[in-house]
Amino acid sequence: MIEWNEIYSLGIPEIDAEHKKLIDIINKAILAKEHNDNPEELEEVLNEMTKYAQTHFATEELYMAKFNYQGYQYHKQEHLDFATKIKAYESGLINADYHIADEILGYLRKWLINHILKTDKKYVDCFRENGLMGETEDQEKTKQGEEPDRRQFERRRGLGRRRDKDSEK
Ligand code: FEO
Repeated sequence: MIEWNEIYSLGIPEIDAEHKKLIDIINKAILAKEHNDNPEELEEVLNEMTKYAQTHFATEELYMAKFNYQGYQYHKQEHLDFATKIKAYESGLINADYHIADEILGYLRKWLINHILKTDKKYVDCFRENGLMGETEDQEKTKQGEEPDRRQFERRRGLGRRRDKDSEK
């Protein structure tokens, strides 16, 4: 099982929540293999992964396009390669090729963690410069019926301390 770890956090609540959901789906696939060894269940989980990955990739690609992110094309290609691979695995399972189950699980774990830590992390500065992080934090709070607290958010990001010191001068 994969446990969420803060090193996977991009500091963007909307995207972190989607990555957590992707990890949940991978964990479902691991359970389907470990507990039931049931090809149909694993196939269903892969189908869920295909659908949710599309939703998540669309979120990131929308922001990348909106912010004219330089690495957009390369990043989008990684997303496409993943979607193609998962479709191929799904077809393999449909054709009763269940011995690939371990390979599928290995691929899912490795791809997602590598992608978050290497490829996704590269857009964080661009998204931050375009104000996404503050906005999404505020949106999260607003959704929960709380007043956005930018100062608390900035302190968490390591910005508040600098501002506090400046105001002490
Ligand atoms: Fe979070 Fe680029 O996938």
